[in-house]
Amino acid sequence: IKKTFAEVQTERLEQAERTILIKCPPKLNEKKLLQYLSSHGNIKSHFLFENRGIHALIEFSEKNSIASLQDAIGIPSAIEHHVVPFKSRLFTFMLKNPVSQAAEETPVHLSPQSHIPVKDLIQKLCHADSISSQMYILLNEYQLTEENIRLRFLACSLVRDFARAYFPDSVVRPFGSSVNTFGKLGCDVDMFLDFHDTQKRATKMKKGPFEMEYQMKRLPSERLANQKILSVIGDCLDNFGPGCVSIQKILNARCPLVKFSHQPTGFQCDLSVSNSIAIKSSELLYIYGCLDSRVRALVFSVRCWARVHGLTNSAPGNWITNFSLTVMVMFFLQKRSPPIIPTVDQLKVLADDKDMHVIGGYDCSFVSDLSKVKPTENTETLDVLLGEFFEYFGNFDFRKNSINLRKGKEVNKPESSPLYIWNPFEQDLNISKNVNQPQLEKFVAMARETAWILQKEDKTQRMINKEPWGLAALLIPFGKSNNSKMKNRVKGIGSETIRSLLDSLKLNSASSLQKAVEK
Ligand code: GTP
Ligand code: MG
Repeated sequence: IKKTFAEVQTERLEQAERTILIKCPPKLNEKKLLQYLSSHGNIKSHFLFENRGIHALIEFSEKNSIASLQDAIGIPSAIEHHVVPFKSRLFTFMLKNPVSQAAEETPVHLSPQSHIPVKDLIQKLCHADSISSQMYILLNEYQLTEENIRLRFLACSLVRDFARAYFPDSVVRPFGSSVNTFGKLGCDVDMFLDFHDTQKRATKMKKGPFEMEYQMKRLPSERLANQKILSVIGDCLDNFGPGCVSIQKILNARCPLVKFSHQPTGFQCDLSVSNSIAIKSSELLYIYGCLDSRVRALVFSVRCWARVHGLTNSAPGNWITNFSLTVMVMFFLQKRSPPIIPTVDQLKVLADDKDMHVIGGYDCSFVSDLSKVKPTENTETLDVLLGEFFEYFGNFDFRKNSINLRKGKEVNKPESSPLYIWNPFEQDLNISKNVNQPQLEKFVAMARETAWILQKEDKTQRMINKEPWGLAALLIPFGKSNNSKMKNRVKGIGSETIRSLLDSLKLNSASSLQKAVEK
């Protein structure tokens, strides 16, 4: 039985509040550390990982064990640096007598927090027996681990400790790929400050002959309020947050945010203020990701393919985002016959009273109980789906049509952006407005080339020759593979290919000109 998104979130946030993070000495006796800590309470779970030194994440059974520990431990002496006396849940464990105690060191298991490099992945993929199993291997190597998810929620919980100094009811929740089942190891932590509890209370107070409300500072816009809150929390993290570095306040963005790097957990974090629609988008993707095992496998392969070929980039720009790509995969899966996942409208029909949400005038209602969604009858293999995905978008009429998850069919573009993908909830917004014509053309050219390779490839021959085949062949930049001859045979040669041909012509003529001059 799959839990609802809200249940998972609540459980993980509560778990994170009972969790601490300890920096350990390089030579560590794990058992002794646990023994030492358990004098403060029962340890429910723990794991060790490497992040500029060994760290231990410890989950106590009871929250008050942390208070007990905090009472017992020391404050760093102010010899070199003066410390800011903010007491967080980040600690350093030291050996009093390193030489003799180090002798007791025992081998420790470190759980990995990053994925293997693409070249190692390609090696692994070559040993698989089908493209489907290659896609599941990629998924297993790249997806977030249980430990990594805990660490992400801990990062949010640590930021919450700062927010609480001002807003005791506030919660810091992760959203985006940390929680939507499509996160890969190493992706950023998107988090937002949620004051929702205070809003709920306001609606509760309506009964009886009297009414009472808080006096609160009033500002001309929500945006301005968010900017002020983020500015202060950003300063707090900057000035007092252990291991919070490279704080950047980006308050003038469409959605104001504070970026920072959280060294103890090793995450790049984006903090914004309560963005209920974004959390609904995360929940929608979570539902799609849970409905059928093929969904996540296909998304991970497509994202990895896009990254390798420079279609996506971690820096902001005119490229397609992972979020847009994921929505494109969902749309493709809705278009299969029979469909593999339902449309947003169909999910809305299944919604019950508690699933009804209207946020800022937009209807964000859809079913939260996964067991109410009938499993698909589609039995296509991932081998087929991968090829068909590239075929479908290689031939999609982007000039005329837009991608709409709510309807699950192509809709005329409402305006002339090169790529138009409807925001599933704010129906007048295009989530891929940033994508320009050259980037779209590059995507289409790559999709065609990829579809062509998958169709023409002789798997057995490639396996005999010990060449990367199937998904592995798609994860090598096309220019670099031995088969660059293939390029010229592709139906629609991409503008990129033409450009590089032109560039090489220019170079050739320039160098022959140079030679002619020298003579
Ligand atoms: P990666 O971080 O690339 O792994 O994926 P992500 O899904 O976390 O994307 P990102 O960090 O860029 O954004 C976080 C979340 O913000 C997404 O999951 C969406 O819910 C939301 N989001 C991002 N870009 C847009 C956009 O252009 N429009 C809307 N409405 N929401 C967006
Ligand atoms: Mg993200």
